[in-house]
Amino acid sequence: MVKDLSVNLCGLQLQNPVIPASGTFGFGLELAGSMDLNVLGAISLKGTTREARYGNPVPRIAEAPHGMLNSVGLQNPGIDVLVNEKVPALRKIYRQGVIANISGFSVEEYRECCAKADACEGIDLLEVNVSCPNVHGGGLAFGTSAKAAAEVTAAVKAVCKKPVFIKLSPNVTDIVEIARACEDAGADGLTLVNTFLGMRIDIVRRQPILANKMGGFSGAAIFPIALRMVYQVAHACKIPIMGCGGVASARDVIEMMMAGATAVQVGAENLRNPFACPEIIAELPAVMEQLHIDALKDIIGTV
Ligand code: FUM
Repeated sequence: MVKDLSVNLCGLQLQNPVIPASGTFGFGLELAGSMDLNVLGAISLKGTTREARYGNPVPRIAEAPHGMLNSVGLQNPGIDVLVNEKVPALRKIYRQGVIANISGFSVEEYRECCAKADACEGIDLLEVNVSCPNVHGGGLAFGTSAKAAAEVTAAVKAVCKKPVFIKLSPNVTDIVEIARACEDAGADGLTLVNTFLGMRIDIVRRQPILANKMGGFSGAAIFPIALRMVYQVAHACKIPIMGCGGVASARDVIEMMMAGATAVQVGAENLRNPFACPEIIAELPAVMEQLHIDALKDIIGTV
């Protein structure tokens, strides 16, 4: 029997739920020569701010067992390049979902960037990142307070017609409180979760490995924690969730969906294996057959 992989994300029909996570797939174009991008469910583009940013000093990457740390620091070409150059170029070759990931250092910056992304024809959905652990005074500062996360959500929703997802940080005591605050402020959906603040030390040099000292930990090691947070929020909120955190296989995608995710983002695994997303998508029908699943949408939040 032909398997139905499709899901609906706030009116955006995806042919499958697999989405490369922001920051692990560039603006899509970088990978276009190596794979058929049109097999993907959607792409979450590199996180974008109002001005172009060079990012943090190097080293920005540290290895860890079953994962990695990054302290990229939101390197990006700025919102005007995203909407005027990157998205139009991607749209010449790509027909599936496009998600703009927006970061900011003030509520006004979030509002301004989201308004521009909302007006960009090639963008389907906005993902507002209130959870970057690698910059001071932005990102995470908004995602660790329910009040601040709600304020950003309301400000962005006031200027957007497209669905707005808020990407939350796991670096909080009670993620449900933040998720509820975003839902109450009008968020259309949530992405759970961004990276965990971590650190490695070079014991020979007696120095932190990352120039920024700390960075965001991602990869297979965080999967059970991300899954737990998706499950908790799915039971507390009504809005859809994009599950993210350590996903590396078709079985992980199914587990995330059973926990409550409507779509599933693949992050660090893309950096280990750039073909991870197409491989997972190709693997899904056989795993569905083994588990007697005809349509993926039927398993969302069934646990
Ligand atoms: O440092 C970075 O650019 C990471 C961003 C994020 O984790 O949201």
